[in-house]
Formats: sequence, structure tokens, C-alpha cells
Amino acid sequence: MKQKVTLHVPTAQELWFREKCMSDPLTMEYNAGYDVSYEGYHRDTGCIDFPEYKWQDWAETKLTNPNFFYAYILDQTTGNFVGYCNFNKNPETGKATMGIVIKSEFHGKGYMRPAMELLLEKAKEKGVKTLTDTVPETREHALKVFFDLGFEKVGEFMSKKFDQPEVVAEIERRI
Ligand SMILES: CC(C)(COP(=O)(O)OP(=O)(O)OC[C@H]1O[C@@H](n2cnc3c(N)ncnc32)[C@H](O)[C@@H]1OP(=O)(O)O)[C@@H](O)C(=O)NCCC(=O)NCCS
Repeated sequence: MKQKVTLHVPTAQELWFREKCMSDPLTMEYNAGYDVSYEGYHRDTGCIDFPEYKWQDWAETKLTNPNFFYAYILDQTTGNFVGYCNFNKNPETGKATMGIVIKSEFHGKGYMRPAMELLLEKAKEKGVKTLTDTVPETREHALKVFFDLGFEKVGEFMSKKFDQPEVVAEIERRI
């Protein structure tokens, strides 16, 4: 089923949904087990703290940055926020790293492809020349969507998830 979605840039008051996603272990499982240390990261679950006192500042610094794009994926039929996507452009090179997360209860319902199509349009509008992502090879169904949408694998590197080796594909799409 092809879902009808739009991209919605949240206000500071709407950042409750970002907090809800980032504090949900089922949604953040993909982010668990990495040997990174940044403020608020929980290695056991992948969750990241994003308390309300941070929302205003985050909105003011991130959402007003012309090289950063962040939006909720809004289901037009139900009015639900179902996930979020973003890119961060290097203005010197035109390369942008991207991310997309669908909240766990909305997985497998066909939100990724239409959201990615809109993200690609937005990247073009914002002057991105190349959109890049790093995706563990185990996420086969996500990689399939990326390849269908014109991404190519340009490299790979080894990472570790819960101390187990993991192959991560570097993918990119010329815009
Ligand atoms: C990857 C992710 C964004 C996919 O979102 P989603 O809305 O659940 O995906 P969709 O329902 O649109 O499915 C994407 C494709 O995978 C297929 N698919 C979904 N679940 C599947 C499963 N369990 N097994 C096999 N294929 C599956 C779908 O059929 C669809 O293919 P199609 O468009 O050709 O029909 C989501 O799982 C997520 O947020 N994961 C964590 C973050 C992440 O990995 N981000 C992307 C890479 S960094």
C-alpha cells in the first residue's frame, strides 16, 4: 500500500514526537550497541535523551540552519506523525548525510518509499548535489528501497554492534 505522506517541519512545541521516538527502545533498536559516547546515548537500548528543556534551543539552532533539514513524516490520511527524516549539507561540497526513522508501530506499512521521494525533492530544492547514508548490510529491505530510488553502494566499512562485527554499506545518490 502506498501511503500518502507530507514532510512537516516541527515547531519547538511539536518536538514531543521526536522525544517519543528517541525514548522508545523498539524504534531505537537500530541505534543500540554502538561504542560511541555522546550526551544522552543509551548503548543498551539505542535511546537518546531529549528532554523538554532542550526543545526550544534545538529548534532555534537546528531548524533555522539553512544547511540542515529535519521534518516529521506526516500521514495525510490519519494525521499521525509516523517518523522523521533529515539531511545535513556540507555547503562546500554539496554533499549531505541523511537519516530516516519510522516509529516502531508504523514499520512495514509502506512509509519509507514515499517519505524518501519527498526527501529527495527537498534535497534538490536545497541545492544538495549528493545525498549519502551509511546502512548496515543486514537492513536489506531498507537498502532495497534506497537502491530502487537510485542510490548506489560506493563503499563499506566495519563497525561493531554489541561487540559483534557488522558490515556497513556507504550509499549515495546524485541529485
Ligand atoms: C528502515 C525503515 C525506515 C523502513 O521503514 P518502513 O516504513 O518500515 O518501511 P516500508 O514499510 O516502507 O518498507 C520498505 C520496503 O521493505 C519491505 N519490507 C518491509 N518490511 C519487511 C520485512 N520484514 N521483510 C522484508 N521486506 C520488508 C517493504 O515491502 C518495502 O518494499 P517496497 O517499497 O518495495 O514494497 C524503518 O524500518 C526504520 O525506521 N528503521 C530504523 C532506522 C533505519 O534503519 N533507517 C534507514 C537506514 S539508516
